[in-house]
This record gives sequence, C-alpha cells and structure tokens, in this order.
Amino acid sequence: MKKKFKVVYVEITDNCNLSCFFCPVDKKKQNNESFRKMELYLFDKVCSQISPLTDKMTYHILGEPLFVDDLANYLDISKKYGLKVIITTNGTLVDEKFDVLLHDSICLINISVTSVIPNNIDINSYFDKIFLFMEKYHKIRPKLYFNLRLWNYNNSEKNETINQQFIDLVNNRLNIILPNYIQLNGRKSVKVNDYIYLNYDNMFEFPDANSIKVSDNGRCHGLDTHFGILADGTVIPCCLDYSATIALGNIKNNTIDDILNSERSKNILCGFKKGKLVENTCKKCDFIKRFK
Ligand SMILES: C[S@@+](CC[C@H](N)C(=O)[O-])C[C@H]1O[C@@H](n2cnc3c(N)ncnc32)[C@H](O)[C@@H]1O
Ligand code: SF4
Ligand code: SF4
Repeated sequence: MKKKFKVVYVEITDNCNLSCFFCPVDKKKQNNESFRKMELYLFDKVCSQISPLTDKMTYHILGEPLFVDDLANYLDISKKYGLKVIITTNGTLVDEKFDVLLHDSICLINISVTSVIPNNIDINSYFDKIFLFMEKYHKIRPKLYFNLRLWNYNNSEKNETINQQFIDLVNNRLNIILPNYIQLNGRKSVKVNDYIYLNYDNMFEFPDANSIKVSDNGRCHGLDTHFGILADGTVIPCCLDYSATIALGNIKNNTIDDILNSERSKNILCGFKKGKLVENTCKKCDFIKRFK
C-alpha cells in the first residue's frame, strides 16, 4: 500500500567536514555554535514511528552523513524497520566509507559537487575520486544510481562559468556532450549514463529568523509529501527549517502521529491547500516561488 509521505528527512548530524558559504553550517561554525548527532535510541524511535508513514528517508537536513563515524549503526536500524535510505553527501569521504555505503538499505546516492567550490578542493582530483567511486560501486551494485547535484545557478556569470567547468569535466571524462542549463528548457535532470544523472538547480536561501518577507500567499509540499526531524528530535515541516523556527514538537516527548495531527501542523497544511502561508518562516521562504 502507498504510504502517506514520499520521504522523511532525518538529520543524523548537523556537523560537517566542510564549510560551504551557501549553507547554514558555515554560519554555525563561524559563530562557534555546537553541533549535534542524533542518539541511536532516538534514531530507533524515529525509524519505528516513520516506517508506517514512508518507505524512504534521508540522513540530512544540514550535516554530512558520511562524517558520522558509526554510520553503519544507523543503516542497520533503518533496515530493521524496512526503510530505504537516500544518502546526500558532499562526496569527499566516499573512499573512507566505501564498504559502509554498500549497505543494502541505501537506494540512491546524491553527490553535491558544488561543495568543492568554497572549500579549496582541487576539482580535478575531486572528480577523479567520485567517478572512480561510482564506477567501482556500480560493478558491485549495478541497480543503484547516482545524482550529481549542480545546485549552483543564480543568474550570475561567475556561477555560470563554474557550472560549465563542471559540465565540461563530466563531458571530457565520459566523452559526451551534456546540455547546459538553458538548453535543458525547464528540465532539471539529464541522464549521463546508465547509472549517473546530472541534476541542475538554483541556489536558494535557507529561511530563518533573519530572512526577509517574500509573500503571505503561496504553497509548498511540506507536511504533504515530506517532513523533517532534526538531530535533537525536533519535528519540522520541511527540509529547510534547519533552525526549528517551526518546531512542531519533539519526538522525545510526543509521538510523530500526535505531532503531525497537532493544530499547528493542520493549520500549516490547510493554509498551503488554500494558497495561504500561515507561518512567518514560510512567508519568508524563497522556496514558495517554486510552487504555483
Ligand atoms: C545541506 S546539504 C546536506 C548534505 C551534504 N552535506 C551535502 O552537501 O550533500 C543538502 C543539500 O543542500 C545543498 N545546498 C546547501 N545550501 C544550498 C544553497 N544555498 N542553495 C542550493 N543548494 C544548497 C547541498 O549542495 C546539498 O545538495
Ligand atoms: S557539505 Fe553539505 S552540510 Fe556541509 S557545509 Fe556544504 S552543503 Fe552544508
Ligand atoms: S514554505 Fe519553506 S519554510 Fe515553509 S514548509 Fe515550505 S520549505 Fe519549509
């Protein structure tokens, strides 16, 4: 039977081995804020309660899943509850975590190639690393596919040049010609080969208390197709509210069912259905421009 949510975002840590200027992790590091890791007992509780609601989960909102030393324990727990895991990673630790990544609960690996830009990583050796990784992985698990995420479009010439450099690297390596963003004509993904896709998208701003109001009206798929759980157990309506401005409850104190059926959750969802943004953070969220 089809489950209610397409995916649930579960942040196993908000810590990361990199610091990208476009991501709130960078700000948190500059402000010397502390980082968290979801305790295994809590993760077990999360998985047991989300498994009737979804088939798929991710391991991030903020944070780098491969930076978690006992990642295998989390994967074992997901498997225990029959959950499939989407790994979204900056790709820098794929060699160290190769064996763990072969875990059969993993169903998709997104590699965010844009993370090399602000971190002084040599782009050629980075691409060597991730392509060798994908080739080696494909030989063992031919059915799994990879998305290379190029979420770096912002109408600036500078980013356009960088993005073309990425595309050229893939083209040269595989002797193909991939379209650029304009040639895609609104499509967001292009097949690179049997098991690799290139995923193009715009940069966005994570909404938080300091964001500027965008609109009172709009809609979003938060609480309809997905929701999120931060590393401390706080339930949020989406994958963007990293600072829990819309804290719907905490799974340490309440069940997910109770949290999703609370007045606040129902009001948000009901608002989206009518094209009304109920929460202040949603009124300040860049993402609503994406949904008509
Ligand atoms: C916050 S990261 C967490 C997972 C992992 N650390 C990674 O980088 O893939 C999740 C995704 O958000 C993307 N991202 C972060 N900040 C972004 C921004 N301002 N605009 C567009 N994408 C962003 C990352 O590139 C990544 O694909
Ligand atoms: S690698 Fe991911 S979590 Fe880490 S700073 Fe960059 S976008 Fe954020
Ligand atoms: S509008 Fe933005 S902040 Fe509100 S639920 Fe959607 S993604 Fe999250």
